[in-house]
Amino acid sequence: MDGIEELRAKYLAEAGAASGADALEGVRLAALGKKGEISLKMRELGKMTSEERQIAGPALNGLKSEIDAALKARKLALDDAALDERLKAEWLDITLPGRPRPQGGIHPVSQVTEECSAIFADMGFRVAEGPQIETDWYNFDALNLAPEHPARQEHDTFFMRRAPGDDRPPHVLRTHTSPVQIRAMQDQGAPIRVIAPGRVYRMDMDLTHTPMFHQIEGMAIDRDISMANLKWVLEEFFSAYFGTQVRTRFRASHFPFTEPSAEVDIQCSWVDGQLRVGEGDGWMEVLGSGMMHPKVLAAGGIDPDQWQGFAFGMGIDRMAMLKYGIPDLRAFFESDLRWLRHYGFGALSAPTVHAG
Ligand code: DAH
Repeated sequence: MDGIEELRAKYLAEAGAASGADALEGVRLAALGKKGEISLKMRELGKMTSEERQIAGPALNGLKSEIDAALKARKLALDDAALDERLKAEWLDITLPGRPRPQGGIHPVSQVTEECSAIFADMGFRVAEGPQIETDWYNFDALNLAPEHPARQEHDTFFMRRAPGDDRPPHVLRTHTSPVQIRAMQDQGAPIRVIAPGRVYRMDMDLTHTPMFHQIEGMAIDRDISMANLKWVLEEFFSAYFGTQVRTRFRASHFPFTEPSAEVDIQCSWVDGQLRVGEGDGWMEVLGSGMMHPKVLAAGGIDPDQWQGFAFGMGIDRMAMLKYGIPDLRAFFESDLRWLRHYGFGALSAPTVHAG
């Protein structure tokens, strides 16, 4: 049959030179498509004598397979080449060290708040909360600090503004966490055991004072509560917190909201300028406490003839300084990243609950 050799040469060359999927498809259609040259030739077989057909038929079929195979081979070659290109372009050096990502940390105040909460939770205290902008009544009156009480002045209070002509007492930024005592009593009644950690504010700024700092308030009310319970709870707490047995010393003091009142010291010593809690014969003051004043219980809606309670308040920042050897209070609130990296805690460092 005429022209088969030419067709073979032409299509094998075209298949071999096709530069992509579209070109290959073009070659296939031109040769083997319905109207392709080979297909047209196939149609001519019918018009041939049977001798001619016996030669031309196998020849055309053979050519068809050959072109088919050449197209497939070319497609494979093109795919391989494309893959090689991709492998070259997308090469990854898995031995390169990773890029460091900025990592956050837990602020010592948050860490210590968690630690304290965990220890008190172990003793059945639940966390209570109150607002940081507090009414004059919750922050003072309800805690037996009447408007003319001299202790009010000692609180260096920040007052909120009232509209001109509005002569109700202004709201305050709470000067202590003690107002949460009143709110918790009103919300939950007696018996009750709560702690209230949070921010407090006083107009004070020097080496050891910042206008905002943190306190944790504690309160337990029941039918038979005494100073002995207070002492036990505090010694349990300090021992768990510092991871060593810590003794406490109670000194008579005065707070309007407690009667009797005590300032509490923890046992400590100074060795080579380093503070050691729980050893030696030194004492350091760490909190205020006492038996809740009957007027305070009454302000919280609790009958003082039926119930008694103890309460205490201490500085969280101070607790963090003592445990983690942080020298300067003001640095807590300067957001200096170097300081935070040094004193901050990893996201997964769990609060310690048990004495060492
Ligand atoms: N609220 C006091 C202060 O900020 C601390 C305090 C003293 C809290 C005695 C108490 C307490 O609950 O009983 O200085």
